[in-house]
Amino acid sequence: MAGLRRQIKLGAILTGVGGPGHFNTWLDPEIPGSASIDINWYIEQARLAEAAKFDLVFIVDSQFITPDSPPHYLNRLEPLTLLSAVAVATRHIGLVGTLTTSYNDPFNVARRFGSLDLISGGRAGWNVVTSGDAGTAGNFSQDEHFDYDTRYARALEFVEVAKGLWDSYEDDAFPRDRDRRVFLDPSKLHQLNHRGEFFSVVGPLNLSRSPQGQPVIFQAGDSEQGRDLGATIGDGIFTHAASIEQALAFSREIKGRAAAKGRNPDHVLIMPGISVYVGDTDDQAREIERELQLADGGFDQALAEFGRPFGWHDFRQYDLDEPFPQHTLKHAERAFYTNAKRIAELASSRGLTLRQTIEAVSSPKRTPFAGSPLTVADELQRWFQAGAVDGYSFHLGHPSQTRRLLDDVLPILRERGVLRREYEGSTLRENLGLPFVENRYTAARRQAPQPHSAEDRQPVPAH
Ligand SMILES: Cc1cc2nc3c(=O)[nH]c(=O)nc-3n(C[C@H](O)[C@H](O)[C@H](O)COP(=O)(O)O)c2cc1C
Repeated sequence: MAGLRRQIKLGAILTGVGGPGHFNTWLDPEIPGSASIDINWYIEQARLAEAAKFDLVFIVDSQFITPDSPPHYLNRLEPLTLLSAVAVATRHIGLVGTLTTSYNDPFNVARRFGSLDLISGGRAGWNVVTSGDAGTAGNFSQDEHFDYDTRYARALEFVEVAKGLWDSYEDDAFPRDRDRRVFLDPSKLHQLNHRGEFFSVVGPLNLSRSPQGQPVIFQAGDSEQGRDLGATIGDGIFTHAASIEQALAFSREIKGRAAAKGRNPDHVLIMPGISVYVGDTDDQAREIERELQLADGGFDQALAEFGRPFGWHDFRQYDLDEPFPQHTLKHAERAFYTNAKRIAELASSRGLTLRQTIEAVSSPKRTPFAGSPLTVADELQRWFQAGAVDGYSFHLGHPSQTRRLLDDVLPILRERGVLRREYEGSTLRENLGLPFVENRYTAARRQAPQPHSAEDRQPVPAH
């Protein structure tokens, strides 16, 4: 039975032929060269993850590329289109897609995620991002990307509007009574009438709700504004985790912020993206890690990719052996500023040249999750039990490593009772241990004194 014991949540990040830092994944003979645009590949991966009782598959996304973008980014399917196809080929696994609030409209997005939620029987999730690639603006008729305050304020209002639209119909709005010839109960249909700083949306949305009420909201963004957004609207947080100490501090901060906003911190699940390297022994695993990471890149590759947080600024124009050009930080102001600032601070605190900075950033990092199956299982459990994470979003890259994770590591955790053996429910919310989202109008009606007749009904406030 769900909830008796806290269990590790599992996500599978599917990045086909290789995302950031994994430029040579496509060379693996087990990965089809067309994986990122092959729906059968996604379905196969999702079914593998579902057989291992993963909570969800996670599709990251962006809408701006250069020839230096990672292979998966160069040529990939649009997340909701691909997840709709995966939905009909799976039964239990959650389907989380990334969509930016900076280059969409809430009505479209609410309708698309609402549709995925219905198609999948209540398994949809939305990873809310604001777009770190500043160049995206050029693909949407804008000269410049939004600044941080604007893009995060817009994101908050965007999600609030989408949530409002998802509640357009109360769950019993459609009697579909042929005898009485009543298809709709209009008192259960609500206009949103939202007028805010960024959006004016009358509503209602022409779509009813799914068995989980509303799609699950994930959030990814690490700045002050990003963390605040996550604590406000996130059911799940997608982040990085370099060490247990850092993960613990992050988790405490986000959950503390959520609690301060009156939310239940247990309903904000921290699920960092991680890679695991598994060998027969710890030494062999480190060897595998080294080999797979060495296969990735080379300095020229690292130099080209280095510009991404800085709005894809081209660092090839600078002398590599001069001090890191601090003025380049201005190119990051509307891009991945949190990450770029960290890099610039590292360079100045250590007095690094540009070459040394690139080497420091791109040098293979020893992941905390490399070792024998037992070592990796122990570490995954240790972080979880320390409260540093609620689960993990695994980068499922090389198939040989995915097999080791699924066949050798996860069974240990299952045996220890910290991983599920069977899905608890049929919706993503049920499986993640998140409550059903009650329709706001139904809730208001339930809390209000009972009216004597339909005419006496109190108007319910629009949120
Ligand atoms: C772990 C993580 C994953 C992210 N994934 C995406 C993504 O898939 N697509 C996207 O456009 N932005 C993604 N972002 C970018 C954020 O939405 C944001 O625009 C960017 O990180 C800069 O904001 P920040 O300084 O608040 O992190 C991600 C950010 C983080 C930290």
